[in-house]
Amino acid sequence: MSTTPDDFQEALDATLPILQSMTKNLRAKPKATRTSLENLKASLPPSFEKSTGPSEEPIKSAESSEQLKPTSPVASGNDDGRLAKLEVLKKSILSCTRCPHLVTSRTQVVYGVGNPFAELLFVGEAPGEEEDLRGEPFIGKAGQLLTKIISAMEYTREEIFIANVLKCRPDMPEGESGNRKPKPAEMATCLPWLTQQIELIKPKVIVALGLTAVEGLLGEPHTMRDVRGKWLEYHGVPLMPTYHPAYLLRNQTLAEKRKVWDDMLLVLEKLGRPISAKQRGYFLEKA
Ligand code: URA
Repeated sequence: MSTTPDDFQEALDATLPILQSMTKNLRAKPKATRTSLENLKASLPPSFEKSTGPSEEPIKSAESSEQLKPTSPVASGNDDGRLAKLEVLKKSILSCTRCPHLVTSRTQVVYGVGNPFAELLFVGEAPGEEEDLRGEPFIGKAGQLLTKIISAMEYTREEIFIANVLKCRPDMPEGESGNRKPKPAEMATCLPWLTQQIELIKPKVIVALGLTAVEGLLGEPHTMRDVRGKWLEYHGVPLMPTYHPAYLLRNQTLAEKRKVWDDMLLVLEKLGRPISAKQRGYFLEKA
């Protein structure tokens, strides 16, 4: 079986965060002999040699121009200067040290992913363990469900933008696994980064995933009953609060799925997207 560049990239993407984590957390650092590195290089498909040079960050950024849709403003030469500004902002975000306790616990800062010209922005609470290792938001189980919601809306992850209120994984007590919710003070410290991303990306609609994201954005707690399915606003941008996909994973009834879907239909309407009869009927109880 021959190795394709895609296979190799996949293996590299899976290996890099593990090596980084070992480098950070273990006393015995991972080592490779010169011979094994040469053997590895010899086994690369020829088209790969250039792109596997040392890279400063394992993040697969969806901002690279190949990943933008041909119809995006960048592809058609209409960049309003935001790409350069976003690059500068990204550098600052990735090296942020505002929360010293998170600087020591994180593997990396999770900047966000997607189209810098996105009309739709999803905002979650904070990276979990997998996101911290991979440097990309919403890639665990909840993220996979979010990707399904995005596809049901007839978008791809590359067309929209996904970010979190808190850009570092909340630290866990020694020896404890899992994830904890970000604290209000942590979110308040981090929020200016997201606000700057929003000001540059200029989405037409923001979806806040879960009450923690709503609280992070608006600065005070709310209840789902009060806010879900209603239009709020963040810095002049229409904001739709809905359930976090992790909630849907715990509550897999048609009725709960439909609530989120109703919210997404409102979002599609606000964005002026065509909605098919099939889309309107998703998750309705059968008569
Ligand atoms: N949950 C979130 O709120 N954000 C992520 O990136 C992953 C899970």
